[in-house]
Amino acid sequence: MSEATQAEGLNPELKKHTFEAEVAQLLHLVTHSLYSNADIFVRELVSNASDACDKLRFEGTNDDSLYEDDGELKIRIAVDEAAKTITFTDNGIGMNEADAIENLGTIAKSGTKAFLDKLSESQKQDGQLIGQFGVGFYSGFIVADTISVESRKAGEPADKGVRWVSDGTGSFTVEPITKDTRGTAITLHLKEEYSEGEDNYLDRSKIKRLVNKYSDHISLPIQMRKEIWQEDVKEDENDDTPVGGQMVLTDEWETINKASALWTRSSSEIEDDEYVDFYKNISYDMDAPLTWTHNRVEGRVQYTQLLYIPKKHQLIYTLVSSSMV
Ligand SMILES: Nc1ncnc2c1ncn2[C@@H]1O[C@H](COP(=O)(O)OP(=O)(O)O)[C@@H](O)[C@H]1O
Ligand SMILES: [Mg+2]
Repeated sequence: MSEATQAEGLNPELKKHTFEAEVAQLLHLVTHSLYSNADIFVRELVSNASDACDKLRFEGTNDDSLYEDDGELKIRIAVDEAAKTITFTDNGIGMNEADAIENLGTIAKSGTKAFLDKLSESQKQDGQLIGQFGVGFYSGFIVADTISVESRKAGEPADKGVRWVSDGTGSFTVEPITKDTRGTAITLHLKEEYSEGEDNYLDRSKIKRLVNKYSDHISLPIQMRKEIWQEDVKEDENDDTPVGGQMVLTDEWETINKASALWTRSSSEIEDDEYVDFYKNISYDMDAPLTWTHNRVEGRVQYTQLLYIPKKHQLIYTLVSSSMV
């Protein structure tokens, strides 16, 4: 871990850290080779938020107070068109300053380290390969020029919150903040090319589609602000120009995912596309599986099994090893 240095002229409590060498390497790869896979940041950030809620649930079984009277675990995604940001919020386990430095400044996953060692000269190929590994949190830097993380760990005082900020190059800063609510809010300041035109992630319907595609199996509610259709109000009774309408954003939150794991649903209700998308999501394989079986076995013991056979046998290894992490 790097030495923290004082950033001049800013909050005296703001400290600057340099990324571990492997992170810098990964970030370079993410920003230079993964633009054709930009969509994956939604899946990765939702999956981290879901993991954080699972961790809270796990620790909460021994210590009820961690819930802080807010037991309804959920993930929220908010778009701010004026600020050109998209924010992923969860009320999971959260992080304190030491956690943020460790978890967002180093790579703990041995698989990712091994992968980086094997990197070839061809960035294009790396881009395809890395899709299979999942770059996690750092995938946000495909679309964002700055990421700001505000977090507070469950069970710790409000003034022990942390703000972590980075532009995804060599360094990040951390500073203490007061955060009343437990959990994490991750704000991506979108790059110009991802906040307009075809790749505009400020487009709520695009985000909804991506959540439905990649994160329907997440068992927590994933919510966005509800939009309703509003007819234009006719101001003049005698004016017979046609009345239009528009979608307007309300203050209400609505759950946009099905919030049920694919394997818990009846196989007769699941389309092949859903099986394939789910497979691609959990395996990071870009090819569809060769085949799959989905069985519910009921007897003295009941279980549901969903088994996929990948096209490339090398990927079976990936699946097995990732389930042991
Ligand atoms: N929303 C979050 N809440 C709490 N911790 C988080 C959150 N997002 C990321 N983290 C921390 O950052 C780490 C790195 O995330 P990531 O790069 O996606 O790798 P992975 O999820 O495979 O561990 C996580 O392991 C976790 O400790
Ligand atoms: Mg992750």
